[in-house]
Amino acid sequence: MFKKPRWLRWKGGKPQDEAGWKDRIDMERLPQHIAIIMDGNGRWANARGLPRTAGHRAGMGTLHEIVDASGEIGLKILTVYAFSTENWKRPPEEVDFLMHLMVEYIVKELAELHEKGVQIRLMGDIEDLPGDTRNEMKNAIEVTRNNQGLVLNIAVNYGGRSEILRAVKQVCAEVRGSRLAPEEIDEELFGRLLYTEGCADPDLVIRPSGEMRLSNFMLWQIAYSEFWFDRILWPDFHREHLYQAIVEFQQRHRRYGGL
Ligand code: FPP
Repeated sequence: MFKKPRWLRWKGGKPQDEAGWKDRIDMERLPQHIAIIMDGNGRWANARGLPRTAGHRAGMGTLHEIVDASGEIGLKILTVYAFSTENWKRPPEEVDFLMHLMVEYIVKELAELHEKGVQIRLMGDIEDLPGDTRNEMKNAIEVTRNNQGLVLNIAVNYGGRSEILRAVKQVCAEVRGSRLAPEEIDEELFGRLLYTEGCADPDLVIRPSGEMRLSNFMLWQIAYSEFWFDRILWPDFHREHLYQAIVEFQQRHRRYGGL
């Protein structure tokens, strides 16, 4: 008989099994890198008759909780998709709000993140951001540069395809200047030209909100990532969902094309 997949059965809200997902995590086999597409803020707000911006603000609260939980369990890298190259197509008021929310996030959280040893990195074209967003981001990166705890990689004005094209252009320039021979181009060299230089690829990609697509996110880096989708909306996502995703990730058998 057809058995509905778990994400269809679960209508959001609290995880079905609250019996200690955290205790079920095998801490010896934690994923090194988790990447999250923070989706569903708008729908969360709509469902409550609130403006979309209220959903983004609630989503910022979720980000705080998830960064905290990630640091606490000793995750190495957390990447979050905050604003894509396509998100500029949204109404200007929403774009402005999101840009200011990022400033607010840094202003509010930087001291605590720094104290907890979080290293903030940015993935995307920072130069096209409004001045105050760019400056706060640059400052946060600078202040936390030498921290040894969780790497919090924020994707802002980020698109996977444009990231790949940017690397291709660099490779072409090197080849044209005779500093690189085409035979020397391999995955390792190419990977070093991406925003994620020096970071392991995501082991696990989480996308809440019921959408099952990648939306131009980390197209190169997620070649062998595991995916965890759920209908929960990002503002309703809590640390228990993160733990559950990790437990389920640990139950999978990664073969990387082998047997
Ligand atoms: C997608 O949901 C979410 C975004 C485009 C913005 C994500 C931003 C936050 C979570 C705010 C906090 C982030 C930082 C870095 C301060 P959506 O608006 O497309 O939701 P919908 O699909 O339900 O409309």
